[in-house]
Amino acid sequence: MPERTTPTGMLRDEHQLILKVLDVLERLVEKGDKGEWNLEALKECVTFFRLFADACHHGKEEDLLFPELEARGMPRHEGPIAVMLFEHKQGRALVGEMAQALSAAHGGEAEPLVKLEGAARGYLQLLRGHIQKEDNVLFNMADFMVDRPGCQRLCEQYDVVCARRFEGHTKANLEAMAADLQSKYGA
Ligand SMILES: [Fe+2]
Repeated sequence: MPERTTPTGMLRDEHQLILKVLDVLERLVEKGDKGEWNLEALKECVTFFRLFADACHHGKEEDLLFPELEARGMPRHEGPIAVMLFEHKQGRALVGEMAQALSAAHGGEAEPLVKLEGAARGYLQLLRGHIQKEDNVLFNMADFMVDRPGCQRLCEQYDVVCARRFEGHTKANLEAMAADLQSKYGA
């Protein structure tokens, strides 16, 4: 099966897009550090992380891939799945902190900007490490554990999730949002 049509291949592709928006976030925070805060662009990044990275991407992992691995003998409450679930939770909390700081930062006060920077830097470090662990450890185990019919079924179930709307946005809308952020603020 070509990589793109395997369940881990689809998730690995999504990781690449998430990593690009993380690079955008890093650049926006670095600029902010120099006093040039672009709150609108940061809000878009947060929307992307909330709807694409969390709802669309982590949703497929938590609701479909991890249960498939559990059914094939991988424990849920210890080992890689437990670590990934814990990190998803931490990521959600940091995205929430960024969103909260962004709505409080509109008056130009310094304190929410300090909180925003702290949460953004925490998220950058967390998610880059998290993606590396999934790409290099968990997904390699999944490739070994899930047989061809299992892969086929997961891919079909992923397609159903990807066809949903995420607070009114299609997956294509969110990918376009990422491309736009990258073209304006990417390296
Ligand atoms: Fe992932």
